[in-house]
Amino acid sequence: MVCIKVPATTANLGPGFDCLGMALKLYNTVEMEEIGNGLCIEVEGDGKSGIPTDEENIVYKAVLKVFKAVGYVPKGLKIKLKNDIPLCRGLGSSAAAIVGGIVAANVLSGKKLDKYEMLKLANQMEGHPDNVAPALLGGIIISTVMKDDIEYVKIKPPAGLKAVVAVPDFQLSTKLAREVLPKGVPFEDAVFNVSRVSLLIACLYSGDLSKIKFAVEDRLHQNYRIKLVPGMEEVFREAYNAGARGVVLSGAGPTLLALADDNFDAIADAMCKTFKKYGIKTSIMQLEPSDGGAIIV
Ligand code: HSE
Repeated sequence: MVCIKVPATTANLGPGFDCLGMALKLYNTVEMEEIGNGLCIEVEGDGKSGIPTDEENIVYKAVLKVFKAVGYVPKGLKIKLKNDIPLCRGLGSSAAAIVGGIVAANVLSGKKLDKYEMLKLANQMEGHPDNVAPALLGGIIISTVMKDDIEYVKIKPPAGLKAVVAVPDFQLSTKLAREVLPKGVPFEDAVFNVSRVSLLIACLYSGDLSKIKFAVEDRLHQNYRIKLVPGMEEVFREAYNAGARGVVLSGAGPTLLALADDNFDAIADAMCKTFKKYGIKTSIMQLEPSDGGAIIV
């Protein structure tokens, strides 16, 4: 039996739309074994009732992609999923499913793919690498897609940095959150984001958190998504007032994430209370970045 543990991820980190993501110490596990025949999928944990347990299951689809690539034909499969990453909330649950399936299938079929080949398969399924790359490789990953290739650089998360996340009690599909984005943006907004994401990567790489507040500003996606997350602007403001270094929409949302190196409880409290004013219940977590990605347990 193979058991793979995959971290949650937060993509974009503000201005790094579709190219920047960080792994977090919150995990899903995928257990897989070959059985005599058929397909048996069991799910435990978050979103249990909404996850298909047949051929439509995303972990199973990822498994098939690997088996096809390496020419492996199992007799039958049993897959058990234990999910701690909230589903469809902007914390990389689909990336964790894809990466978990790919790594498990690769181990079961004799480890024929290297990390880079697995990353390419994961990106093909997800459509952008900003969640799948840190889910697979850990740390903070800056990734660029060129036709069929991906180039990436991994940097270590700064010491002492934590993510305080407020996870609303409603799901938001990435598909819907991408449909509200414009087809193009003004040149000045593109320049704005280039400058912010450059500053952000420099801050994260050097460990200088003093300029994160300016570095996480974004004009490519967050403003367009505000309407999908009631209270977003006020939660940002209150998290900053409580001492956050930077506040962002995590991935496509609806989770809001504060980067901090102190004042964790005050920030958590402020985010929870502000969402509550808008009638939104949240679960709050204080998560450390994970320098490790998917691992074989
Ligand atoms: N970069 C992606 C987005 C992350 O913001 O749509 C969510 O998958």
